[in-house]
This record gives sequence, C-alpha cells and structure tokens, in this order.
Amino acid sequence: MSLLVLSGSVRKDSFHTKLARAAADVLQTQAIPHTVLNLADYPLPIYDGDVEAQGLPDFARTLRKRFSEHAGFIIANPEYNGSVTPLLKNVLDWVSRKDEASKHHEPYANKTALLISTSPGSLAGQRALRHTREILTSLGTLVLPQHVAVPNAFQAFSLEGLLIDEKQSQILKTQIDALWRLTSKLAA
Ligand SMILES: Cc1cc2nc3c(=O)[nH]c(=O)nc-3n(C[C@H](O)[C@H](O)[C@H](O)COP(=O)(O)O)c2cc1C
Repeated sequence: MSLLVLSGSVRKDSFHTKLARAAADVLQTQAIPHTVLNLADYPLPIYDGDVEAQGLPDFARTLRKRFSEHAGFIIANPEYNGSVTPLLKNVLDWVSRKDEASKHHEPYANKTALLISTSPGSLAGQRALRHTREILTSLGTLVLPQHVAVPNAFQAFSLEGLLIDEKQSQILKTQIDALWRLTSKLAA
C-alpha cells in the first residue's frame, strides 16, 4: 500500500512542488511508502475526444497505471481564478479514460486523497480545493474532510524550499497521519 504525491504546477519555482516535497518528507520520516510524481514527465495534450479516438496517449495510459498502483493521493493543488489548474484537471480527465490495454486499472474508486494548497494570498488557495474535492468525489475517491492550506506562500518557505512555520508543518503531519489511517482502514 502506497501513496502518490503530486503537484498541480510544473513551474520551476512552484510553491506547490515545494509543498508536495514537504509532504513527501513527512511520509519519508513516518516510513509511509510513497511515490512522488512530477507531471512535467508526462506531457499530455489538452483532452479532446478526437485525440482520444486516435488512441489513448502513452502518457495517459502510464499515468492511469501509476494512479491505479497507489491506494491514496496527496495533491498539492494550486488555485487559478478560484478553481483547479488546467494542468491538474487535464491529468485527472485523461487518467479517467481507458482503452483495451488499460481498462483493468482502477485509478480513483475506493482510493483516498488529501488536498493541500498554498498561495501568495491569505486564503491560501482554499477555494480551488472545493472544486478538486468535487471532481475526485465524483470519481469515487474518498477525500479527507480536512485539508492543509498554507497562506502567504512567499514567506512560507525557506530558501531550501522547506516550510518555515512549525505549526504548518505540524498540521501537514497531522493530516498525513489521518490520510494514512483512513487509507489503511479502507484496505483492511
Ligand atoms: C491564471 C492564474 C490565476 C490565479 N488565480 C488565483 C486565485 O484565484 N487565487 C489565488 O490565491 N491565487 C491565484 N493565482 C496565483 C497563484 O496562487 C500563484 O501563481 C501560485 O504561485 C501558483 O502556484 P505555483 O507556485 O505552485 O505555481 C493565480 C495565478 C494564475 C497564473
């Protein structure tokens, strides 16, 4: 049983990639098996039924398999105009598609998820989390009721990309523990 950690931004200095790394550090410390996924390694076209009709892109099939191999997700979820980033939505959409070769993989149903966000503002990107929660819920994923939202991103991370505020680190750890407990119960 293992968790998949991913960031909805592939920007070089992405705060969400830093937040995903902070989550991975907690998983490492807690000896929780996990994989960190870099979406930049899986470039996909914007979903289009005509593209799909020509055959599922290899990266879509590979990502679907990656999701399927994990029991839960930690998604660092940036907010664009109050909602989910096109990158993340596109990945979630492609992964929901299947072909003959990938139909036995189950990427979403009966999985768990913890949503984490940050933003330069004081709302910490929380509005986007509601949308991602709805998307994942509609796909059959059990999303943890609590989330982690780190405000004031420019001040929140050290030069090394670590979370500065001990309280935020503790909240992240608490919610990751909760995610792992839920994931373990679901698998029992
Ligand atoms: C198109 C666009 C829309 C944005 N909308 C919001 C927003 O609604 N709320 C917010 O807090 N930040 C918003 N931001 C700022 C992002 O939170 C900020 O760019 C953040 O650093 C993105 O995450 P990243 O650092 O992981 O790339 C927006 C940024 C972009 C590019």
